[in-house]
Amino acid sequence: MASITQHISVIFFIVSLLCLCSSSSQQELEYEKWISWNKQNYLTKNKISATQSVRGMKVVDVKLRNAEMNKVRVSVSQFGTGDFLTIREAIASVQLHNTKRIILDIGPGVYREKIIVRKTLDFITFFGNASDPPTITWNDTASTTSGRDGRPLKTFQSATVAVDANYFVAVNIKFENTAPHKIGSQGEQAVALRISGSKAAFYNCSFFGSQDTLYDHKGLHYFYNCFIQGSVDFIFGYGRSLYEKCHLNSVANKVASLTAQKRNIATMQSGFSFKDCRITGSGRVYLGRAWGDYSRVVFSYTFMDSLVLPQGWSDWGKLSRDVNVYYGEYECSGPGANMSGRVSWARILTAEEAQPFIGTSFIDGDTWLTPP
Ligand SMILES: *[C@@H]1O[C@H](CO)[C@@H](O)[C@H](O)[C@H]1NC(C)=O
Ligand SMILES: *[C@@H]1O[C@H](CO)[C@@H](O)[C@H](O)[C@H]1NC(C)=O
Ligand SMILES: *[C@@H]1O[C@H](CO)[C@@H](O)[C@H](O)[C@H]1NC(C)=O
Ligand SMILES: *[C@@H]1O[C@H](CO)[C@@H](O)[C@H](O)[C@H]1NC(C)=O
Repeated sequence: MASITQHISVIFFIVSLLCLCSSSSQQELEYEKWISWNKQNYLTKNKISATQSVRGMKVVDVKLRNAEMNKVRVSVSQFGTGDFLTIREAIASVQLHNTKRIILDIGPGVYREKIIVRKTLDFITFFGNASDPPTITWNDTASTTSGRDGRPLKTFQSATVAVDANYFVAVNIKFENTAPHKIGSQGEQAVALRISGSKAAFYNCSFFGSQDTLYDHKGLHYFYNCFIQGSVDFIFGYGRSLYEKCHLNSVANKVASLTAQKRNIATMQSGFSFKDCRITGSGRVYLGRAWGDYSRVVFSYTFMDSLVLPQGWSDWGKLSRDVNVYYGEYECSGPGANMSGRVSWARILTAEEAQPFIGTSFIDGDTWLTPP
């Protein structure tokens, strides 16, 4: 019964937020309320998982549990030693509205393929060999014109691998977009991976590109032990994502931004949290720039090399965003983590404020995240 009361108060709070929206004198109040809502949300979730562990079993959603209990493995090998020669063929063999976990064991090599995992194909796993991970590569950009109508693809369709399905998993896979980045040119966004499905996990993966490498479009996502390389805005979108033990490497020539998080409504449950990560590379980088009015990014326990600009964050030239964005840092280290030059609206989080962002509860992981 307590949880019903809590739900009601959450709904009440969301309604009251909507009413307060965009009244600038209320913004600080709104912020305080958001913080307290976020903490409350975290406490509620922890209570739920405590109940689950008392019974000695994790409650995942039923669809997911059934899929995991009915695993099917198929192999892909360029050398003809598997069930399929290409990843596309293997995906094409999966039944629409698939209900089983289908693991594609992908052999070593470079797969020059542009891949879309459509919405109707849930529960697909790309599994590579840790000692010799396969590479999936293509080179479309936003300005590449497609064959049929001759119109540019735009950023969304430039992805080498695009995933619209839920429950996608990738382990030991290298995602790549090799389109060259010409400085100052338009339409050079070249996505290596777009993840638009929810409840997706990436373990030991790497993502190579330059502008807009990783389109963390929407949904709940987990990245563990991944390497992500790019130049401009190379992790962007409005996913709610936890990046744990990941390495972000900039190949920017001048000034760029690591993230462009797009949360654009105060009530949107969206944001990027980086925990135990490492930031290295060339150029000078902002940790984030505000693509959405309510952009939300948190870095915790992260090593930041000297390429991180002292200001830390950018409002993309819109002063109105300074009061609405949520850019937090907690217990970071390295020359780039010095807070003395930060913009005034960057937040040094307290332990209590950081707590909701530094566990898998941030992405409701208790209900869907399974080990690789
Ligand atoms: C991974 O690759 C190594 C080296 O090529 C090989 O010895 C091993 O059997 C492979 N593992 C799997 C699971 O295929
Ligand atoms: C992930 O990579 C680590 C080495 O970084 C390796 O020990 C581990 O086995 C890999 N995980 C899987 C599931 O292959
Ligand atoms: C992609 O690669 C192909 C083959 O190498 C090349 O013909 C094409 O021009 C490249 N496209 C772009 C946008 O770089
Ligand atoms: C942080 O930067 C300020 C200004 O550049 C400098 O005075 C201070 O020593 C730095 N702190 C650390 C811990 O490096």
